Amino acid sequence: MPLVTTEKMFKAAYDGGFAVGAFNVNNMELMQGIIEACKAENAPVILQISKGARKYANIKYLKGLIDVAVAETDLPIAIHCDHGDTFDLCKECVDDGYTSVMIDASHDPLAENIAKTKAVVDYAHSKGVVVEAELGQLGGIEEDVIGVSADDVMNHLTDPAEAEQFVKESGCDSLAVACGTSHGAFKFKSEPKLALNVVEEIGKRLPGFPLVMHGSSSVPKEFVDLINKYGGNMPNTMGVPESAISEAVKMAVCKVNIDTDLRLALTAKIRQVFAEKPGEFDPRNYLGPGRQAIIEMVQRKLHVLGCAGKADICR
Ligand code: G3H
Ligand code: 13P
Ligand code: ZN
Repeated sequence: MPLVTTEKMFKAAYDGGFAVGAFNVNNMELMQGIIEACKAENAPVILQISKGARKYANIKYLKGLIDVAVAETDLPIAIHCDHGDTFDLCKECVDDGYTSVMIDASHDPLAENIAKTKAVVDYAHSKGVVVEAELGQLGGIEEDVIGVSADDVMNHLTDPAEAEQFVKESGCDSLAVACGTSHGAFKFKSEPKLALNVVEEIGKRLPGFPLVMHGSSSVPKEFVDLINKYGGNMPNTMGVPESAISEAVKMAVCKVNIDTDLRLALTAKIRQVFAEKPGEFDPRNYLGPGRQAIIEMVQRKLHVLGCAGKADICR
């Protein structure tokens, strides 16, 4: 089937108490790994491309991969611009055929965030493309923007009253909320805690409206242990417990962003091959196991999000 926007998926997710996985793609192995997993689980999927990924892979190559993914599957697939930082980038993505864009002006004051989001909404909607916006601030690093520190995320949560105003005035189709998560592998300094009460309150103020959770990797210990065992150095990692994600998707969270866990799976397997077979130099023999690890990681996530088996109701 042709690419879809997130509209139907989010409606099905909202009504069904699950969320659609939004996985970041940079290269062929990630694309194949995600698609293979979604095919195996009959799941809808959002493939998201950051500004950095556009630059790294060249969008023309990524578009070629997307065309194959669409031709090879009958799944509902949305292509989304992750953390678009300017109107021009979002417009380029719309013009390139993405079906969803995020304008992230969350670092700006409220009025400016609303104005920037509205400008993108006006353009995107005129082309049938949906828009995600962000209010509140996450921790960690997004491309070249440094978010708040992991210690400080609880002081930058989305304000529910502002969220209500923001959605009404900007016209966005979904909203990324700050509830204590951070991007990357170092999300918490001590016991992981999310402000799911904030998500619940925003959900109450915006009935039927889809929310998005960024920074939702769980940073599984077994993969970090493999990385460290085979020459890596990633001390003190911490992610969002999968149980908290499963709780959030029963609220209004309809899209959950995962990038770090896929990076960890790929890196752990490549390191393992290099350590166990130091003479190996055929990329297929280390990227292949990496791709298999991505498939398994994505399948695991689809079950955590509850979207395994949900492709048919998202078409
Ligand atoms: O939000 C950040 C995503 O993990 C994308 O990361 O900008 O390094 O591609 P990136
Ligand atoms: P993670 O770093 O937790 O995977 O989050 C990814 C993300 O939010 C992409 O927008
Ligand atoms: Zn993000």
